[in-house]
Order: sequence, then C-alpha cells, then structure tokens
Amino acid sequence: MLSAIIDLLDCPVCQGDLDIDESTVICDRGHTFDIARQGYVSLLSGSAGKLHSDSVAMVSARERVLGSGLYDPISDAVAELTLGPVTLDVGAGTGHHLARCLAAVGPDARGVGLDLSKAGARAIARAHPRIGSVIADAWQRLPLRDDTVDTVLSVFAPRNVAEFARVLVPGGALVVVTPTPRHLAEIVEPMGMIGVDPAKPERIGNTLGAAFTRTERISVDHTMTLDRALVADIVTMGPSAYHLSENEITDRAEALPDTVDVACSVTVSRYEANRPA
Ligand SMILES: C[S@@+](CC[C@H](N)C(=O)[O-])C[C@H]1O[C@@H](n2cnc3c(N)ncnc32)[C@H](O)[C@@H]1O
Repeated sequence: MLSAIIDLLDCPVCQGDLDIDESTVICDRGHTFDIARQGYVSLLSGSAGKLHSDSVAMVSARERVLGSGLYDPISDAVAELTLGPVTLDVGAGTGHHLARCLAAVGPDARGVGLDLSKAGARAIARAHPRIGSVIADAWQRLPLRDDTVDTVLSVFAPRNVAEFARVLVPGGALVVVTPTPRHLAEIVEPMGMIGVDPAKPERIGNTLGAAFTRTERISVDHTMTLDRALVADIVTMGPSAYHLSENEITDRAEALPDTVDVACSVTVSRYEANRPA
C-alpha cells in the first residue's frame, strides 16, 4: 500500500514532501496525483511516450513464469543480498522479487516497486501489503527523497546509476541481476529471441564503475525443463516480445519437442556506492 512508503517519495514537479489525501497523493505546494483504483500512483514527470514498457500480455506471461517457481533461485539470491528495511525495485515487473525480499528481511521491511508499465503497476500493487506501487521512468529523476533506500534492486531492468546513488543511504546496497550468455541459450535461435550480448557483463561493470564497487556475487545456474507453453511465456515476458508477434511465438513454440531443457544462468551482484573521500 502507498501509505506504507509515502514518506520515502517526493513530488516529481517540485520535489516537495508527499502525503495521501483519500484517493490523491498531494505535495506541500498542492501538486496532485490520482491514486488508481488498483492502488498505484503515477508520478511520471513529462512524457515517457517513446519508451517501451511491458504490456498486459507480457506481465501475465511473467506472472505465470514466476508463479511456476522456475526463477525462485534468482529471487532467493536477490533476497540473500538485500539489506533492509527499505527496498526500491526499479523496473519491478510484477513485484515478485521485491515481495520475496520483503518476506526475507522481516516484519519491518517495506518496498517501493517502480515501473513504467501500467499493467506492471497493477500487479506490483497486489504483490505485498507493504509494497507501494509507483509508475515512473527509470531514466528520469526518480520520485524518491535523497538517502532513503537501504537496497536498490535492478533485475533485468534499466540502470540509472546516478539516481541509484542519490537515493541510497550511506552504506546501502545495489543488487543487480544480469544474464550470462548461457541464459536461455537453447531457445534463442529456435524462438527467434535476442541473445545475451557476450560483452554485457563488461558493459555493466563500466556503467557502474566510477560510482559503485562490487562487494558480493552469487552465480545462479540451473536447468529448467520447460513445456511449450512455458517457453512461449518466457519469450513473451522478455524484450523479444517487442519484435515477435503472438502468432509467431506460438508457431515457433509448436515446432519444439514436448519439453526442452533450458539453462537459467544469471549473476546476482551486490554493489556498494563509492562515497567521496
Ligand atoms: C525484463 S522486465 C523485468 C521485470 C522484473 N524486474 C523481473 O525480473 O521480473 C523489465 C521491466 O522494466 C520495465 N521498464 C522498462 N523501461 C522502463 C523505464 N524506463 N522505467 C521504468 N521501468 C521500465 C518494464 O516495464 C518491465 O517491467
């Protein structure tokens, strides 16, 4: 619920403190933002029109895949590296990983699930009673106050390094999940997916380089036995869905054997912000 985290947020227009007044979020200077019936608020400043965000079909596919438990080892590793009590998940998707982190941290844990997608925001609002669901663009200033977050999560999602550093408390953690080139490799070609760029880990290191230092790392590597429906869901929930039609995904999945063994291979890293000496 937004009331659990409203003190962490600030106004996207004037950066003033926010409060909840019935079905509206309102700042000191009177800027107002409607709370949707499903419990999320949009704090988008300006237009994010040209950016991709997940559709209803993508979010539903993600809910089925995460609900199957196939990615639980990823959630567990993320939860293990999370410092409480306040967690911000940027590009939170369905809120699944964030909810599991809150459960692991304990009863004083609370979280902000931020996503650009309305369908995602609806799912995030349902994910846990102490999660507040916010629509915002990860590439702009995040609608959060300075030095308020113990852990920022970035799970297959956009990384705005300067904003992550701004919102983290001193000594706070950035937990990043990145796929290795082996991730889903068996279905990349038959499903027409975008493969993982082998230079990705190096690129991520370079982007985080000056601002953050890696302090922990967990490798998650296991084999998932997938039926055709789950293969189609895994493709639909990812960036490949932006260039493949629903029919194309179904047709390609139909051509696969009844089940396929597919690698789940990611690195979960914890970084600490470098503070000026
Ligand atoms: C690949 S999904 C990962 C979702 C979630 N972290 C998970 O692992 O289940 C990427 C997510 O980032 C969101 N996203 C993409 N661009 C964004 C942006 N500019 N600002 C905020 N969220 C964004 C998408 O809507 C989507 O939910």
